[in-house]
Amino acid sequence: MSLNEEINKLKEKNGVAILAHYYVEGAVQDIADYVGDSYYLSKIATEIEQKTILFCGVKFMGESAKILNPEKHVIMVDELADCPMAHMIDAETIENIKAKYEDIAVVCYINSSAEIKAHSDVCVTSSNALKIVSKLPQKNILFIPDNHLGTYLSTKMENKNFVFHHGYCPVHQDIRKEDVARAKKEHPEAEVLAHPECSIDVLSLAHFVGSTSEIIDYATKSDGHSFVIATEDGVLHQLRGKNPNKIFYLVNEIQQCPGMKLNTLEKVYDILNSMENEMLLNEDLRRKAQIPLTKMHELAQ
Ligand code: 13P
Ligand code: SF4
Repeated sequence: MSLNEEINKLKEKNGVAILAHYYVEGAVQDIADYVGDSYYLSKIATEIEQKTILFCGVKFMGESAKILNPEKHVIMVDELADCPMAHMIDAETIENIKAKYEDIAVVCYINSSAEIKAHSDVCVTSSNALKIVSKLPQKNILFIPDNHLGTYLSTKMENKNFVFHHGYCPVHQDIRKEDVARAKKEHPEAEVLAHPECSIDVLSLAHFVGSTSEIIDYATKSDGHSFVIATEDGVLHQLRGKNPNKIFYLVNEIQQCPGMKLNTLEKVYDILNSMENEMLLNEDLRRKAQIPLTKMHELAQ
């Protein structure tokens, strides 16, 4: 039996749904039941009937699934798979900034720990942030932890006063404007598609800015023939699979998220055998972190 067949057999036997982000390796995306961006994955986790979710992604994704579905078992493929940005601010800093404003909403990018979420008013992802922040009544927006996404949003919403934090994604921050300019020169016919975790200098050179699934949709629907991709290289699997006649270039040779790449097919098989690495959360923390995530789902409708 092939590894894929073994995985499917174990998945059925254990009543598991496999959820995967677009940044994990292609072979893992292919065995997943659901593949998507952060918003889609947090939503689908609330809709599936299986009692156990095997998450192929990083910790904040599995944590969000557990926060929203306390009755389900959420298992991580590798418990070391984490997003550094998720830990770039702490509760004390949030409370100190909040105390300086009377009318402020703490808007927390979903790439954050449960503790950070528990001190926030609403969560957002890159695909719904604009919609959600524009619906908030508060004038002041403390946007945490990603200063690049926050800065990008602030350019679209001049009626809000953004307060930023200095968090960032190391993978997207490594995509520099000089590299994008060079890629544009090398491929003048190509459109540049960028994730909003890139710096504002990079985004100003892009033809389209969007979440991972929005980038995939844009390229798939576009009449264009070639694209420069300014995000993690895992999206190439879907981009090339859905668009065999189009050409995709990365800005740099290496655009890889170390945490995401810890999710391998062999580990998926091992975990389905052992059913270890269960995501467990303190109930008080879970309840507090559920409030901004539920608010995100309400406002994103
Ligand atoms: P998306 O929500 O666009 O999938 O982004 C998740 C992420 O971690 C980007 O680095
Ligand atoms: Fe975190 Fe960046 Fe990896 Fe996304 S690509 S999970 S933001 S480190």
